[in-house]
Amino acid sequence: MTEHVQVEKNKNGILTITLARPDKKNALTDAMYGKLADTIHSAESDPSTRVLLIRGEGDMFTAGNDVGEFAAVASGKSEGSRNVGRFIQSLARCSRPLIAAVQGRAVGVGTTMLLHCDLVVLADDTLLSTPFVSLALVPEAASSLLMPARIGYARAYEMFALGETVSAKAALAWGLANRVVPLDKLDAEALALAQRLARQPAGALTATKKLMRNGEALVAQMLAEGEQFAQRLRTAEAREAFTAFAERRPPDFTKVS
Ligand code: COA
Repeated sequence: MTEHVQVEKNKNGILTITLARPDKKNALTDAMYGKLADTIHSAESDPSTRVLLIRGEGDMFTAGNDVGEFAAVASGKSEGSRNVGRFIQSLARCSRPLIAAVQGRAVGVGTTMLLHCDLVVLADDTLLSTPFVSLALVPEAASSLLMPARIGYARAYEMFALGETVSAKAALAWGLANRVVPLDKLDAEALALAQRLARQPAGALTATKKLMRNGEALVAQMLAEGEQFAQRLRTAEAREAFTAFAERRPPDFTKVS
């Protein structure tokens, strides 16, 4: 449902994108990815949009991809998301400054999208996690490249392979975030940073980002990951992971090959 992503632009050209499905912990559906991709895409051709700020409503930033939609692919009932690729590629190619304001949990793509943000503000209760392997999947959104580059192979491998959660304090120390603030200051801090960026010369910001990030190399990594991801989604391991989530029990991978 597209109303699960809300978009608002203020007079200073700050486009705030809110994940608004709090009853499902802002889990991302194909329709939500579609609206996110369209929003970022149209911001690119609108000179009055100077900064994009992404946030989540409720007690969590996002619990990641909707597990029900993953399960539908794993059981052969769906072909898979049409829009997730468009969304992550729009992040990689976004020329405007991207800021994230994150509270509670950021799971899966909730964490990997932060690697594409230029400034990340965390509430002090935040836990980041990328439990792709625990779901019998592989990392996406170019995180297999960006995460080890950002925090080192040892930490990245633990996050991916063991699904380790990372506290806000560790995320700050490891360079995954710029600021950690009390929860009640989160939106104000992110907005203050957005206002500062909106006052900077837009051309110089765009040129700086282009020098710092190679969008096309990231998209190439996304495509390689996407092939593996699509294959893994259709395995017996993945069916066990999603069935276990639906049945609210731990998965048992010892009986599937
Ligand atoms: N996809 C679909 N629904 C999700 C979801 C997801 N990723 N994450 C949470 N939900 C739903 C739950 O099924 C529940 O729905 P219900 O009220 O209809 O039963 C609701 O959101 C609340 O979630 P709940 O698990 O009760 O909240 P919690 O605070 O106890 O735990 C999480 C929050 C994020 C730790 C937990 O929901 C979780 O592990 N979610 C799955 C995360 C995940 O694996 N994402 C994919 C990453 S690739």
